[in-house]
Amino acid sequence: MLKKINRLLKEVDGFVPNNKDELESFRLSFLGKKGYLNSLFNDFKKLPVESKKDLGKKINQLKKTVKNIIKKYHSDSSFEEKQSFIDLSKPVLLNNFGSRHPLSIVRKNIVDIFNAIGFNSSEGPEIEDDWHNFTALNLPKDHPARDMQDTFFIQTNPDVLLRTHTSSVQVRHMTKNKPPIRILSPGRVYRNEAVSARAHCIFHQIEGLYIDTNVSFADLKQTLLYFAKELFGEKTKIRLRPSYFPFTEPSAEVDIYWGLNNESDYRITKGTGWLEVLGCGMVDPNVLKNCGIDPKKYSGYAFGMGVERIAMLKYGVTDLRLFFENNVSFLKQFSSL
Ligand code: DAH
Repeated sequence: MLKKINRLLKEVDGFVPNNKDELESFRLSFLGKKGYLNSLFNDFKKLPVESKKDLGKKINQLKKTVKNIIKKYHSDSSFEEKQSFIDLSKPVLLNNFGSRHPLSIVRKNIVDIFNAIGFNSSEGPEIEDDWHNFTALNLPKDHPARDMQDTFFIQTNPDVLLRTHTSSVQVRHMTKNKPPIRILSPGRVYRNEAVSARAHCIFHQIEGLYIDTNVSFADLKQTLLYFAKELFGEKTKIRLRPSYFPFTEPSAEVDIYWGLNNESDYRITKGTGWLEVLGCGMVDPNVLKNCGIDPKKYSGYAFGMGVERIAMLKYGVTDLRLFFENNVSFLKQFSSL
């Protein structure tokens, strides 16, 4: 009997359960009705008195060790977690959802509006060459209008730069595709400007381009009116002001009527009630030629808008920098959109 107890003590000593089931069968094999300890105690009863003292101690030692092991692993919650199976039907915690970035929301709104009337997305690289960003767009070297867009050059090579506008994608797309062309090009652009509440060195634009036979300025105007109404509501009014861009002729800037109801309307619209939202025009024949499209056969319009500017208007954000700081409290406000 002593041999048996010693063997069991040895067994118990090195016991480490791998999971809860193993712990339970360990418990049953020692402490269960038909377990080792009960049978040891039964045999113990039949022993002569003189051997009872030592053997009784040994059996109690075994019982204590078994109980300690069970206690140790039973209350070890990490053991329990590690070993418990993953309950796939358990509901997830809903308190830590991320949210879409306001610029992504606005970009998607705009892309959806133009997708509905047949504009497909076409994207281009952020690192551009001089030809696609400037020269092909009727901005040859030394053209004064290059100064309108302060450029970041890559290393010291003046031919490699960070695109200053998404108009470069027009060139890429027209060079590779034949009209009819109807594209929308959202993307990030860069300009070497001091960062402030109203300007940033990184921002986002969406470029639109439509090339076909007999495209007129009236088509452009109606498309932009449709867009403004879809984005800002059915009652939205727009106006076109003559402007200058090297890649369009004639060119215009589009304002939407914002209203002059309160002080902040005065501030945002500089007292006019009108807000500039995009630049546009009829694609200059030189640009078509540079991209291998016959300007005698085809004409088209283009427009470009700033995503941040529209997001600021839509959500009443007064500091552009908020879009780039990724402050969680700011971003959380858009979680239901
Ligand atoms: N590329 C111009 C800018 O960055 C915006 C623009 C104006 C795009 C007129 C056009 C356009 O396509 O026709 O300021």
